[in-house]
Amino acid sequence: MIIAIDGPSGVGKSTVAKLIAARLGYRYLDSGALYRAVAWKVLTTGTDPAASDAIRGLCATTKLTVTSTAGGGMVVEVDERPLTDELRTPKVSSAASQVAALPDVRAWLLPVQQNFGRQAGVRGIVAEGRDMGTRVFPQAPVKFFLEGSSAERARRRHAEFVGAGQAADLEDTQRELEARDGRDRTRESAPLATAPDAVIIDTSRLTTDEVVERMLRIIERKTAALR
Ligand code: DC
Repeated sequence: MIIAIDGPSGVGKSTVAKLIAARLGYRYLDSGALYRAVAWKVLTTGTDPAASDAIRGLCATTKLTVTSTAGGGMVVEVDERPLTDELRTPKVSSAASQVAALPDVRAWLLPVQQNFGRQAGVRGIVAEGRDMGTRVFPQAPVKFFLEGSSAERARRRHAEFVGAGQAADLEDTQRELEARDGRDRTRESAPLATAPDAVIIDTSRLTTDEVVERMLRIIERKTAALR
């Protein structure tokens, strides 16, 4: 069973995806963390995030592993180094949306995502990102597209930065988020788009619990129809 969740930055995808994965006993796939891992490697090696040839070469020599942790978490390792907080800085966020526009990077990460969860004992995955329902798992029987105003999404993202002890300005956060969304929606390779069979939920005026409950009801209804 694959549940695909797409939407723009800061809309609450990862929070709800983790909660749904925990409730259903499924694995959680944070596809954005993979693009962030590539961006981290690009930045730490001093590579230009727009230099497609150099980045193709970098991917070929990089060992990327993804593992699920108990309780619905996911850990990405680059060259055997586990990356967590390093992936969440504004610099990595911005570089991630640049490298995500490169078809070679997307092609390199495609099997990593599609093979995630193909192990004995895995009943299902909750996959979140920008192209889960359109490109990576077009066959997913349940797809969601989460929406929300950029002001509300920036407010949430800013609160996360502050909560994590990072200095951040709300207006800068909104500007950076809108720039990233613009790049994610307009790139040629697998842009952020709503799958025709996705259920659209506007999260702006809903609490996390309300979004999760609404999604669980839809998952229950759609999976019951498959049985
Ligand atoms: O979800 P996130 O903010 O961690 O994603 C980081 C960047 O990676 C984002 O700007 C868009 C890109 N991304 C993508 O292009 N496709 C995905 N499936 C997930 C993320």
